[in-house]
Amino acid sequence: MPIFRLPVLCLILGFTIAGAAASPVPERPGQAAIASPHPLATRAGEEVLRAGGNAFDAAVAVSAALAVVEPYGSGLGGGGFFLLHRAEDGHQVMVDARETAPAAAHRDMFVDEQGARIPGLSLDTVLAAGIPGLPAALVHVSREYGRLPLGTVLAPAIRYAEEGFEVYPRLRTGLERKRAELEASPASAEVFFPGGELPALGALLRQPDLARTLRRLAEQGHEGFYQGAVAEALVAAVQADGGLWTLEDLAGYRVVEREPIVSRYRDARIVSAPPPSSGGVALATILNILEGYDLAAKPADLATHLVVEAMRRGYRDRALYLGDPDFVDVPVARLVHPMYAAGLRASIRTDRALPSDLLPGIQAREEAPQTTHFSIIDADGNRAGVTQTLNFWFGSGIMAAGTGVLLNNEMDDFSARPGVPDGFGLVTGLGNAIEPGKRMLSSMTPTFVESPQGVAILGTPGGSRIISMVLLGVLARVDGQASAREMVERRRFHHQYLPDVLVHEPGALDEAMAEALRRRGHLLEETTRDYGNLKVVTWDHADNRVEAATDPRGEMGEALVY
Ligand code: GLY
Repeated sequence: MPIFRLPVLCLILGFTIAGAAASPVPERPGQAAIASPHPLATRAGEEVLRAGGNAFDAAVAVSAALAVVEPYGSGLGGGGFFLLHRAEDGHQVMVDARETAPAAAHRDMFVDEQGARIPGLSLDTVLAAGIPGLPAALVHVSREYGRLPLGTVLAPAIRYAEEGFEVYPRLRTGLERKRAELEASPASAEVFFPGGELPALGALLRQPDLARTLRRLAEQGHEGFYQGAVAEALVAAVQADGGLWTLEDLAGYRVVEREPIVSRYRDARIVSAPPPSSGGVALATILNILEGYDLAAKPADLATHLVVEAMRRGYRDRALYLGDPDFVDVPVARLVHPMYAAGLRASIRTDRALPSDLLPGIQAREEAPQTTHFSIIDADGNRAGVTQTLNFWFGSGIMAAGTGVLLNNEMDDFSARPGVPDGFGLVTGLGNAIEPGKRMLSSMTPTFVESPQGVAILGTPGGSRIISMVLLGVLARVDGQASAREMVERRRFHHQYLPDVLVHEPGALDEAMAEALRRRGHLLEETTRDYGNLKVVTWDHADNRVEAATDPRGEMGEALVY
C-alpha cells in the first residue's frame, strides 16, 4: 500500500497511529490546570497558584479543601496517595499517606471464634479507624516540594471550615444515608445536624473545630496533629469507646516516599501507584497483556472481550499477592514483567470467556466507592495526581470531640477472614492480614500517561472499579488519542475476576456488542446508574495546550485552566 494512503485507512477503521506524529516536547506548558470534584477545592488550588505556588502547593491546598467541603469522601482523619512529578529534574515519587493499623491491632480483631467477620465492627466503631496519614502528607509535600509556607496553602481550607460552605445535593444525600451513624457521635451530630436537623440545600455548614485543627497544623506542622492537644483529643475519643489508638501510634506515623510502578503500553510510559496500592501493579499487568494485541484494529466486540479477559487476569492477582511492601514480599517484579503477562495472554481465547473458577484465586473484599481524586499541572509542568479517602461515607462517622476530625474506617480494607481457607483451599489474604503498624491494601490509582501525544494525569474514586476506570482512561488516551474531555466521558465496563460478571454502565455496550459478548460466555450486568468521578488534566505537546476535565457523572466537579 502506498504510504500516503495509510491515514485514510486509519480514518476508515476509526483509529489513529499512536505516536506517528510525535511532536517536539515544549519546554513548559505555560498554563496551569486543575480538575477537582468541588469548585471550592479547585479555587483553593487556583488561589495558591496565583500566589506564586507550584503544583505541589496547589495539591496541598486542594487536598485540605476537599477534607473540609467533601467530608464524606476524605478528611484529616484519613489517608491518600500523592503521585508527583517534578519538572526541573523529572523526579517522580508517590507519597504514601495510607493509614496504619495501631500497634495493638491483631489479625483476628474483626472475626468471631468461627472465623466469621463480626458485622459492623470494622465499619462504624472506633476499631475501624487506622492511624491517619493525610495531615502528615500535607506537611511533607508542602515542606519537600512546595514553594509557599504551609500557612498560606492551608488558608483557603481554614476559611471554608471557619466561614462555612453551602450544603449541596451529594453532601445532603450522604448525610441522609449516614444519619444514624453520624448522630450516634455527639461531635458529628453537632457539626452535621445543627439543632438536630438535616441541613437544607444551600445552608452554610461550618466546622470551627476542624478550622482550629487545620490552623494548628499550619502553625506547628506534623507535631500540630500527631502530638499535643489534637493527638490527645483523638486518642481520648478512641479509647473512650474501647479503641486501640495510643499517643505513640500517632507520634510514630510517617509518610513513605515510594517509587511509582512504571510500565509501557505501546508508545506510552504509564506511571502509577505502587503497593500498598493494588492499582499500579494491576494496571501494569493488564496493559502488558493488552500490549500483545492491536486493539484499535480489532472489531469492537473482540477488543472489548480482550480487555475484559485482561482485567479478569490482572484483578485475579490483587487479592492473592498484594499487601504492604514493608511487611510482605510482594512479587512486583514478576507481576509487572511482560513475560508474566505473555503467559497470561497465552490462556486467552478470542472466542470464549474463561470462567473465573478455572483460574484459581480469591475473591477480593467489597470496597468503598466513596474516596476522591484531583489532578493538577502547573505552568512549569510540575504534576500532582492525588487520590484520598476515609473509606465508606464519612468513614466511621465518629468525630473526636474538639477536633472536627472524622475517624476513617479504613481497617475494613484489610483482608476478611485472613488465614481461613477459601473454596479452593487457598489460605486467603495473608499478604493483607492485619498487623501492627501495617498499611491496608488500597485500590487508589493516581496515574500519569506520558506519550508522544503529551501527558495525562488521571484518577477517580470507585473502590475496586478505580483500576478498570483508570485502565479505560489510559486506553482511550493511548489507543484513541483522546482528549481530557473524551477520557472522562468514555462509557465504562468492569470485570474484577470474582464475581464472574461483566458489569457495565447503561449504554456502554450496544445490543450487537452485548450479544457478541454473551455468545463468548460473558455474564452481563448493567449497573443501575453511571459510576465513577474521573478527573483528568492533559498537556498536549503538538499545540502546547493544557486541558482539564471533570467527569460528567460527578455533580460538583470543576475544571480550570488559566
Ligand atoms: N478505601 C478505598 C481504597 O483505598 O481504595
